Amino acid sequence: MTVTQQAPAVEIDTVAVRFRAKKRDVLALENVSMDVRPGEFVSIVGPSGCGKSTLLKLVSGLLKPSAGAVRLLGGAVGGPRHDVGYVFQRAALLEWRTARKNILLQAEMRGMPQKEAAARADELIAMTGLTGFEDSLPHELSGGMQQRVALCRALLHRPPVLLMDEPFGALDALTREQMNVELHRIWHETETTVLLVTHSIAEAVYLGNRVVVMTPRPGTIAEVIDVALPRVRDYAATMSQPAFAAATSHIRDLLGAAGHND
Ligand SMILES: Nc1ncnc2c1ncn2[C@@H]1O[C@H](COP(=O)(O)OP(=O)(O)O)[C@@H](O)[C@H]1O
Ligand SMILES: [Mg+2]
Repeated sequence: MTVTQQAPAVEIDTVAVRFRAKKRDVLALENVSMDVRPGEFVSIVGPSGCGKSTLLKLVSGLLKPSAGAVRLLGGAVGGPRHDVGYVFQRAALLEWRTARKNILLQAEMRGMPQKEAAARADELIAMTGLTGFEDSLPHELSGGMQQRVALCRALLHRPPVLLMDEPFGALDALTREQMNVELHRIWHETETTVLLVTHSIAEAVYLGNRVVVMTPRPGTIAEVIDVALPRVRDYAATMSQPAFAAATSHIRDLLGAAGHND
């Protein structure tokens, strides 16, 4: 087998972020370095306020680091990037547009050719099990379906990097499990590089090739855990693997018991 040298999809190089507020400065991130390989799924866990969302904003160019550098696909992140997909905890759909038209919003914003966008939307609708709900309005969809629409919208332009910030945090436990299984399959099918911020240790381990565990603010990397599970994973079988139990309990130890319930 030949090993080809590929630039990391994401390089975070000795980054610090300091927010200047009126009364005091907040050091949100300090000395954070990590590389994400193309096609890799990296989960990020850490206490509230440790800078997880800040880290994703750096990668998308919505925020500039106070120190250090961030590179995407081998080039410096100069400003807001249009080649990343972003999914948030709230689906943020336009209430007056159907599921399909919400997905196509991405194409309108980017000036994607209509035909190509329509074909891609159909493909994603089928892939995420939204077939039959294309013409539903957001309020006619369950929370899980709304997040599927948000995911389709984020993937419409085939972004090489997908950023997800607690995307399933507002869903009930069963729907969340289903979404985990679907996201795993979609990641595998699309070969997208994913950075997922989550409060669920089980979700982080099931989905991740690696899990980045962060310290309380100022956020630094406590440890990066390699998940010793096959790349393609069955949900139920994974849950009973010793490697799954070992990784989750190690992460739980690192985070400390306080404030974590999943
Ligand atoms: N725009 C901002 N201005 C000032 N402080 C901010 C801003 N964004 C985030 N912070 C602060 O930076 C820290 C990290 O925030 P965030 O990245 O949202 O944490 P997390 O996503 O891990 O909960 C928090 O203390 C937060 O209050
Ligand atoms: Mg956050």
